[in-house]
Amino acid sequence: VPREAPVRQGGARHEKRVEQDMSFTLVTPAPARLNRSEQAVPGSNTKFLQKAATGDADVVFLDLEDAVAPSEKEAARRNIITALNEYDWSSKTVSLRINGLDTHYMYRDIIEVLEGAPGKLDLIMIPKVGTAADVYAVDMLVTQVEAATGVSKRIGFELIIETALGMANIDAIAAASPRNESLHFGVADYAASTKARTTSIGGPNADYGVLTDVLADGSRAYHWGDMWHYAIARMVVAARAHGLRAIDGPFGDIKDGEGYKAQARRAAVLGCEGKWAIHPSQTTLANEVFTPSEAEVAQAQAILDAMTQAKAEGKGAVTLNGRLIDIASIKQAEVLVDMARQIHG
Ligand code: GLV
Ligand code: MG
Repeated sequence: VPREAPVRQGGARHEKRVEQDMSFTLVTPAPARLNRSEQAVPGSNTKFLQKAATGDADVVFLDLEDAVAPSEKEAARRNIITALNEYDWSSKTVSLRINGLDTHYMYRDIIEVLEGAPGKLDLIMIPKVGTAADVYAVDMLVTQVEAATGVSKRIGFELIIETALGMANIDAIAAASPRNESLHFGVADYAASTKARTTSIGGPNADYGVLTDVLADGSRAYHWGDMWHYAIARMVVAARAHGLRAIDGPFGDIKDGEGYKAQARRAAVLGCEGKWAIHPSQTTLANEVFTPSEAEVAQAQAILDAMTQAKAEGKGAVTLNGRLIDIASIKQAEVLVDMARQIHG
């Protein structure tokens, strides 16, 4: 049963939250935000920055990290500060992807952008998070800049899980700060870090499959698997156990819309709420896939209605269209109905 959380003092979460039962432990969900599409925009490209402010992404992350060459880091910071101050971002959640803690850019990324555009960012995206202490370090720095600039809006954190170390420490990372809002699967760096034999960014790989035994007609079939299944499923579990959103990362083949949608759908089925878009065309696809269809919402509503009636009759389980539904079905259906309400208001 959701219940009203006490108002926390200190830390990033001052607002009243509804906590969620998970065993005897109450998990506090991150503030609700639409995060169907998460558009990456390189800070080095002023035209793209301007376009992103009026695009259709739920979340835009202004990138200082891997889409920006070392020689362009300083100009990118300046461009981002200008874009934050000059464009109207009110229809979006705006995030800043800082450089990793293993670079000498990161401290200036935080200090310069937070001081140059106070109160403008909603989120900071931390790449290549390896340990909980990485999150703590950024939290400390952000907390100091917020205090010094007198900004009362608290910035939340998006954490990219994209190294073997980050995946190994994923639960501690997810629990590392009350600012944490979401975990993201950075498939490209993850492949590099785990030394996977692939050079594509996301998507399936023909070498990841199994050959069936001989079938009745004497033939054998080759079944492709999803080589990212474990990583995404693992991330979803860590995220949800700590009240965070789980977001699937990039898909590099910009021209393959059907491929993108298939990847997005399988992430949604596992519990992800959204997916990155590295091109504006992908934001439209992500918004479409991560918006539950009318038929899905109607089915969920029918389950809720049937269970309301079952409850009135003192029953815990009934059948709906020949299928058993019970009290767990209410929770499943509520996920969809709540998502539709969040999207359509
Ligand atoms: C994202 O940062 C990735 O490495 O895929
Ligand atoms: Mg990366």
